[in-house]
Amino acid sequence: MSTTPKTPAAAGDDTTQGDTGLRKGLTNYGDRGFSLFLRKAFIKGSGYTDSALDRPVIGIADTGSAFNPCHGNMPQLIEAVKRGIMLAGGLPMAFPTISIHESFAAPTSMYLRNLMSMDTEEMIRAQPMDAVVLIGGCDKTVPAQLMGAASAGVPAIQLVTGAMLTGSHRSERVGACTDCRRYWGKFRAGEIDAEETSQVNDQLVASVGTCSVMGTASTMACLTEAMGMSLPGAATPPAVTADRIRIAEQTGARAVAMARERLTIDCVLTPAAFENAMRVLLAIGGSTNGIVHLAAIAGRMGLDIDMQALDRMGRETPVLLDLKPSGQHYMEDFHKAGGMATLMRELRPLLRLDAMTVTGRTLGEELDAAGPGFAQDVVRTMADPIYPQGGIAVLVGNLAPGGAIIKQSAADAKLMEHEGRAVVFENSQDLVERIDSDDLDVNADDILVLKNIGPKGAPGMPEAGYIPIPRKLARAGVKDMVRISDGRMSGTAFGSVVLHVTPEAAVGGPLAYVRTGDRIRLSVSRRELSLLVSDEELEQRRAAQPVVEPSAPRGYMKLFLQTVTQADQGVDFDFLRGAKHMGKTPE
Ligand code: FES
Repeated sequence: MSTTPKTPAAAGDDTTQGDTGLRKGLTNYGDRGFSLFLRKAFIKGSGYTDSALDRPVIGIADTGSAFNPCHGNMPQLIEAVKRGIMLAGGLPMAFPTISIHESFAAPTSMYLRNLMSMDTEEMIRAQPMDAVVLIGGCDKTVPAQLMGAASAGVPAIQLVTGAMLTGSHRSERVGACTDCRRYWGKFRAGEIDAEETSQVNDQLVASVGTCSVMGTASTMACLTEAMGMSLPGAATPPAVTADRIRIAEQTGARAVAMARERLTIDCVLTPAAFENAMRVLLAIGGSTNGIVHLAAIAGRMGLDIDMQALDRMGRETPVLLDLKPSGQHYMEDFHKAGGMATLMRELRPLLRLDAMTVTGRTLGEELDAAGPGFAQDVVRTMADPIYPQGGIAVLVGNLAPGGAIIKQSAADAKLMEHEGRAVVFENSQDLVERIDSDDLDVNADDILVLKNIGPKGAPGMPEAGYIPIPRKLARAGVKDMVRISDGRMSGTAFGSVVLHVTPEAAVGGPLAYVRTGDRIRLSVSRRELSLLVSDEELEQRRAAQPVVEPSAPRGYMKLFLQTVTQADQGVDFDFLRGAKHMGKTPE
């Protein structure tokens, strides 16, 4: 029995303290007093006192799942977040949402990202919470949570699960998933046998946590801190460290303060925040997927990501972070080197220091508070970068009227200016059936083209843009070729791979009409991607072979195919984007 005196609210009067805590978002029974009375009666079934229930309620989005080892430390993180919330005088309330792991989501995790964002948004909205701690990590989970929280509008703070530790294979340091691809490439080329492949499989993921290189999960962790959506220093502590647990406790405590300050997400996710995110994306040699996710999160705030602005930033923002796949280190090394403070201290002249963060202080104030740096070899100086320009270039041309991108920092420099013969695969199945055939007519100078892996084509824009080198060329020692598709690529991958060709083939983009034997020109210096076929010829092909867009008879697939946008709008559903757009009149 409760030892605290009955308050008017406990007796069902919800008029004295406004819409906070348990009084928020009452279930509609037609009688608000009864709704609160009933809500309290049920929650007291779990043993809560009125005193506990009068505190600010802080939701904790729990994305733990047996199918998601990247979130394997979720129980410890939730315990620490709860501790922080209670120490700060709040009431923690954990609730489950969808969890997505890259290797356990068919047909592709991206297909489910928007569903997770809807789940997150509606559960934040439906349940009474004054602020929310979002715990995610694996590639699509942090974008989904930020998209959902952006739409829900409450004070929100992100906690990432943190990177996994690196392993060791025959004295060589390894980590997912750049080394996964490297060893698989060796196996395909016949350089290692099945037994060694099995041995390295045991070492690539040495602990729970997210991929240990600058893949999409690490990229989103860094962008989240750069956007001010997580605490300073929150991006880099590995999953199994005391630092990660401490950040979790601090995140919980800060969420209570944000609830009291009413520091809502629109105070943080401003145009300045997205500008900082794009700068950092370029400086870390981040995953190309980061662009798609930023576009989706910005879209929820009614903002557009300007791809040409991104390209301009790329020309003046060097890659400073020496991490795989662009460099040599792993996330745990970045953490030991001081993490994001070290990077942003160096990048400071290019950042919007006035951007607000979840701490209630600006990014500039937080960088001042971080103090001076120290000697380390993971973050380079502006004067001595690992790559002179931003890792990502935005391409345009008659093959990609809506744009395409290439991660030049992870590509073969010799192929950045290249003209070659197209070898075309109509879809993923066609690729699987022919890529390793000894009869495939292909040479190292050719350009591999894969169609129909865009947002609608696959569907879900899978990470199939990293087209494997045809087996007969791999065996001959070919390591890289120009590859072009309307799909995505894992942030852990590397190579001369043109991605996100927009519009995609499945909706009738020019990519749909490329044929084997056509000539294609890639010029990264001129930001050009051209199909060397006349407009008249392309028009004839279009008329002879009109594209029928994919459709589905029912369910989530139907919703997806009817409403998903192209890569430049984040592959979000059109009805989830915000109502107003930066520099444009409201839609
Ligand atoms: Fe989860 Fe790489 S598979 S972060």
